[in-house]
Amino acid sequence: MYDVRNIVEDIIWVGTNDKRLTLFENMFPIPEGVSYNSYIINDEKTALLDTVDNATRNTFLENINKILNGKALDYLIINHMEPDHCGIIPDIMALYPNIELVSSQKGFELLKAFYPWAKDTKKVVIKEGSTLSLGKHNLTFCTMPMVHWPEVTAVYESKTKILFSADAFGSFGTLNGNIFDDEVDFERRFLENARRYYANIVGKYGPQVGRVFEKLAGLDIKCIAPLHGPIWKENLGYILEKYKLWSSYTPEKKGITIVYASMYGNTENLAQHLSTKLAEKGIKDIEMFDISNTDSSYIVNSIWKNSHIIFAAPTYNADLYPNMRSLLTKLEYVGFQNKSRPFRKLFLE
Ligand SMILES: [Fe+2]
Ligand SMILES: [Fe+2]
Repeated sequence: MYDVRNIVEDIIWVGTNDKRLTLFENMFPIPEGVSYNSYIINDEKTALLDTVDNATRNTFLENINKILNGKALDYLIINHMEPDHCGIIPDIMALYPNIELVSSQKGFELLKAFYPWAKDTKKVVIKEGSTLSLGKHNLTFCTMPMVHWPEVTAVYESKTKILFSADAFGSFGTLNGNIFDDEVDFERRFLENARRYYANIVGKYGPQVGRVFEKLAGLDIKCIAPLHGPIWKENLGYILEKYKLWSSYTPEKKGITIVYASMYGNTENLAQHLSTKLAEKGIKDIEMFDISNTDSSYIVNSIWKNSHIIFAAPTYNADLYPNMRSLLTKLEYVGFQNKSRPFRKLFLE
């Protein structure tokens, strides 16, 4: 059964929701699922902006069929070649053999790697500032290298002032009918999901996200349509502000993340005692994690949010407890930095 919604007249969300996938990228638990957002611009020329993961193929093809209603698809715009967005490219090419693919040079290199047989398809290679007119709607392309893959582009539509932002501003969590930020309780349902998505997947590329902000500064943006999670059309300043904090490794709040490893409960006992003492000093917002039974993506999320971290672990084989070493490696891997700040001054004075 199809499942579509208008963003504005002639620009339609045709994405899908994956409630069955347990590990995103076979790594990150997603108990609330994930949406793969895709969009159709239905103008004199028609364009599909990205596809979805193979797992949700049937609904996606029904969505496209419903909106196009027999009309041809002129362009497939590929902003991101990761398989959660490029999974249905082969089907689209088979259904619309005259379609033109639109992507960056890097995007086409990846297309060739994933789908070598697609080499003879009609292609439009775009670069920074390239434009494409569909009739009433005009698209301008903005490259976003390493946010979070090398080929990534965003698209700005000037009539409606919608920015199609690829993975940037995305979130874990399915869209249950409500697809806009003003239709959901974002803080309750999506904030932790959005930060966990950002920190673990895009986190390493803070400087690159910063450069995107510089590029977007001159655009009049009324709506941000990412590839995952809610579409921003009401409170854009909220998510932009969060991204400014996250991409500059600036904590979102005054709070403490305590991460402990404990073989027989003694280090856990120490961590618990410490948390109580901190609470007695009036410190609020203490989050505590047992490293051995918490997926590291949740710990990375908490560390990204809070101003301070405490690590506690026993030794093992005359070295650091392996799970703690693994977390520290992960933090290095996601480029975590800028966490040095005076504890006493912030909390106790
Ligand atoms: Fe991605
Ligand atoms: Fe994605």
